[in-house]
Amino acid sequence: MSIATARGKTAPPHDAPPKDALIRALMDDATTGVLLLDPSGQVADHNPALERLLAVKSADIRAAAPAALLRTVVAGDDLVREAFKAAKHEREVVLHTPRAGDVPVRFRSYRVGKPAWVLVTLQDLTQMRRMQQELRRHERLATLGQLSAGVAHEIRNPLAGIGTSAQVLLKRFEPRDERARFVQVILDEVARLDRIVTSLLQYARPRTPELRAATLASCVEKVTGLAGEAIATSGVKVEIDAAPRLAALYIDPDLITQVLLNVTLNAVQASPKGGVLRYEIRKVRRRRPPRGPGRRADDAPGERRASDRAEGSAADRRAEGNGWLEYQQVRVIDTGVGIPRGVLEKMFDPFFTTKATGTGLGLSISQTIMQEHGGTIAVDSREGRGTTVLLNFPLEKRHGERRQHDAHSERPDAAHRR
Ligand SMILES: Nc1ncnc2c1ncn2[C@@H]1O[C@H](COP(=O)(O)OP(=O)(O)O)[C@@H](O)[C@H]1O
Ligand SMILES: [Mg+2]
Repeated sequence: MSIATARGKTAPPHDAPPKDALIRALMDDATTGVLLLDPSGQVADHNPALERLLAVKSADIRAAAPAALLRTVVAGDDLVREAFKAAKHEREVVLHTPRAGDVPVRFRSYRVGKPAWVLVTLQDLTQMRRMQQELRRHERLATLGQLSAGVAHEIRNPLAGIGTSAQVLLKRFEPRDERARFVQVILDEVARLDRIVTSLLQYARPRTPELRAATLASCVEKVTGLAGEAIATSGVKVEIDAAPRLAALYIDPDLITQVLLNVTLNAVQASPKGGVLRYEIRKVRRRRPPRGPGRRADDAPGERRASDRAEGSAADRRAEGNGWLEYQQVRVIDTGVGIPRGVLEKMFDPFFTTKATGTGLGLSISQTIMQEHGGTIAVDSREGRGTTVLLNFPLEKRHGERRQHDAHSERPDAAHRR
């Protein structure tokens, strides 16, 4: 039964729905970018999602040549021509935009009418791509973690055997006996292997944090002491800039000190003589990130690498209206060699190292520890200029309470995990 008949014959007859207004509302509401091209190939209409996607103002879109708006990273690609050629067309492309960087999108076009108009829709795939990437990474790391834990255990026992035997042997020789020197080499190398195996186990089976109230400043101070020798030999100048009256956090100070030590040694090793190593500790506020962001996109807006800017702006847009997060943040800033883009992508991978004697586990372990604290670690770098590592500790009230609770309830568990 239609509404008109239900209301009786006295009700005024209903018109057809106002199509233009409906289409307008749909366009405005869509999260997919929409672009309408007239038969002469000029922009006839578009929606706000497209402005956000391309980070271009409405007036500029109307004035732009469609081919420039739809430029992809592939030279010679001409989406506009393709759109006018086929009745329907769909593919994934990476748009090359001046303002939003490279944006992966699903491009769809529909040719309608005669002469032909073209409707283009662009669905932003940034978030989806990032989630897929993160998922693959986690799968890979989980397998790697299990594998390395297994191997580390297998190595540990024979290694202990070699170490003890060499120790016994060493005692049999006179100190001046040159054979003693060789045995000492064995012992030194065993110790080195043991350190690697310990790091491996730490990475694969991180200790549960034992949380208590501590300040980040106290951890930083401890680290500059621990790394004192390395800092002195490298001739790097240390500066600490801590905001006053920062509250204590519920953290495992030993583990956070370890993170800071890893990051500090990396910075020192990357610094030339006379470099500056600077720690900044402060409270920061930033928009709540969407679920499952990439690790380097954990930066606050404006701190992102250029290559992440596209993804970041897309992520920020989605986060809008989700409120703010408060953090205490430690920045470790060096004036060292910096990190090339190719390295930046891999530096958190276990075993990735550019050093002759590195284990490549420092940052992997640091990341695991930060995650166990509900925090994040992010890196920003400029080749030849220096590197900044950001450690973010979220300050949600709820979080603090839970952490405090955990500090007690998880202790027995911590005891039987190694
Ligand atoms: N502050 C820094 N400056 C330049 N490169 C860095 C810095 N921190 C880390 N890196 C790069 O990241 C890699 C991985 O670091 P890490 O996981 O600590 O392992 P390792 O120190 O054993 O190499 C390093 O080999 C280095 O190439
Ligand atoms: Mg390191």
